[in-house]
Amino acid sequence: MFYQLPESLQPEIDALEKLIVDFRSGTIDASTLKAHRVPFGIYEQRTNGIYMARVRCPGGMITPDQLTGVARLSDKYGNGEIHITTRQELQIHGLLVDRLIPLQRDLLKEGLSTRGGGGNTVRNVIVSPESGIDPDEVFDVSPHACALTTRLIADPGSWFLPRKFKIAFSCCARDSGYARFNDVGFIARIRDGVRGFRVYVAGGMGSKPEVGHLLEDFIPERQVFAVAEAVKRVFSRHGNRKNRHAARLRFLWRELGEERFRSLYQAEMAELQDCELPKSELEVQPVARVDAVPHIEPIAKGADCALWKSRFVAEQKQDGLFSVLIPVLFGNVSTSSIVALAEFLHRLGPDVVRLTIGQNLQLRNIPEQSLVGTFEVVRGLFELSTAARFLGDAIACTGADTCKLGICLPRGALQAVQERLRRSNLDLDRLAGCRLNLSGCPNSCGQHPLADLGFYGRAGRNNEVLYPEYNVVAGAVVGEHAPQFAEALGRVSARDLPEFVHELIVRFLSGQPRFESFRHYLQTEGKQDIRALCEQFRKIPDFEADQNYYYDWGAKAQFRLEGKGGGECAAGLLWIPEK
Ligand code: HEM
Ligand code: SF4
Repeated sequence: MFYQLPESLQPEIDALEKLIVDFRSGTIDASTLKAHRVPFGIYEQRTNGIYMARVRCPGGMITPDQLTGVARLSDKYGNGEIHITTRQELQIHGLLVDRLIPLQRDLLKEGLSTRGGGGNTVRNVIVSPESGIDPDEVFDVSPHACALTTRLIADPGSWFLPRKFKIAFSCCARDSGYARFNDVGFIARIRDGVRGFRVYVAGGMGSKPEVGHLLEDFIPERQVFAVAEAVKRVFSRHGNRKNRHAARLRFLWRELGEERFRSLYQAEMAELQDCELPKSELEVQPVARVDAVPHIEPIAKGADCALWKSRFVAEQKQDGLFSVLIPVLFGNVSTSSIVALAEFLHRLGPDVVRLTIGQNLQLRNIPEQSLVGTFEVVRGLFELSTAARFLGDAIACTGADTCKLGICLPRGALQAVQERLRRSNLDLDRLAGCRLNLSGCPNSCGQHPLADLGFYGRAGRNNEVLYPEYNVVAGAVVGEHAPQFAEALGRVSARDLPEFVHELIVRFLSGQPRFESFRHYLQTEGKQDIRALCEQFRKIPDFEADQNYYYDWGAKAQFRLEGKGGGECAAGLLWIPEK
């Protein structure tokens, strides 16, 4: 287990149970229940009366036993699938109201909870997926995320904030944990031989993204809790509780100005350290590892896994051990695949699997001689393991499928892109490491602001008829120093999006020797090509000439905006296109 549940959780579940009973008997209304269940990480899906629960897993850390446990709970109470989120959590979907409390109690037995999976709370703490195994990291920051989680979820103040509060850790300046794009971001560094962090605050994506600002140039690791708690208290005391559209920490930073924000923060720090030491110090336990890992015999000797290795396997900093990335389409995986995988992993120790920020699974601490055996298990369970890495790394939010704010259907579009590219015979391995991100609206759940190539949904209008369209962005720079959000470059209809991506890749590959990577291309000349392609695809046929343009990918009905808006995990924003 990677974090400790507080004793307060049991009575909180009891209280939620009472509210659900009251709701079912008509004593309280749906909105009263909602105010309590959303901070418990329980959302209503687009279908009324069907719920989703989001399980906290700091840094995507979960033991194989817990993974099996969650999968079995999805079978017992949900729809037999598990969803991996971009905040390294697990979601169980398709829950009826009478299953919500039994699920909570069973999760508790697994040492897991959904508390803080939604609402105005401290959300799941995310971590660079390669932390602990990366040869270039400063040090492993996963234990800090776990210890901080244990401390923060024990504090009732973490559940009543002005808005959601997101924390991230990166193990080096490449910032693969997106520390600069969270409310509080810690980036590992060592100063004078002392392990610690640079701390950034008030970053975030959303519809108005902002890069986090430097708060502390160096704090020793034992101060991680005090710093996070002090920022949380500033947010709690001074944040905007009246207008949730302007409530995230970045709005407070802007409103107060850096100087005032700092002085409030320093006052909270002083109080924490003067009055509450040693309580404010964080005790960090390294993640337990199993040293003698058993050898796993390949089932069929000599399976050819060289291509798979080049795509998905990386050497760890620990001699003789390897990590394996398992690409999971849209982060959705059947419980039977999870159970089979966990059964295989079980033999390898507790710290052998992580949920990644790319909605994939990462195996770690696999000995070299067990790689072929791993390959055989993985390729049988996860179809994208046989495709180029670029396809498996792509991210799309749920979009209008299940999200009331969704304008477009990004998963349908991504699937169409994947089909187009798989038909093409292009050398997609040259795109490895690049991020393709799609969001169904400007809210960034598909993380398009951090994309090498990204799209976010909007409604276009042609001769007064609405059609699904995407804004195109490209060239984000992720890293501690000089990060940049992807630049807006134009628009393309949903229908033409797959062809657009295909043509862009063709252009890159034909000029390839000049660019060290697809990323490099998109940060430079590629932007011009994108603008040119947007122009090329600008004109779409009228409705009478080709109705396909007016149906989104995977939609049965013609594109329209009615019924959108008012999503419950959201601020209820809606974007109507200009005429
Ligand atoms: C104001 C509206 C919203 C904003 C600003 C917003 C912002 C974000 C951002 C920035 C992320 C990326 C991960 C992160 O850094 O935390 C995210 C993820 C996510 N959001 Fe939203 N969101 C909004 C509304 C919604 C709604 C209405 C839904 C419900 C359908 C939703 C569901 C999700 C999910 C499920 C993820 C994880 C992505 C995944 O792995 O599936 N969000 N959101
Ligand atoms: S709010 Fe927008 S970006 Fe977020 S899940 Fe819904 S459609 Fe996707």
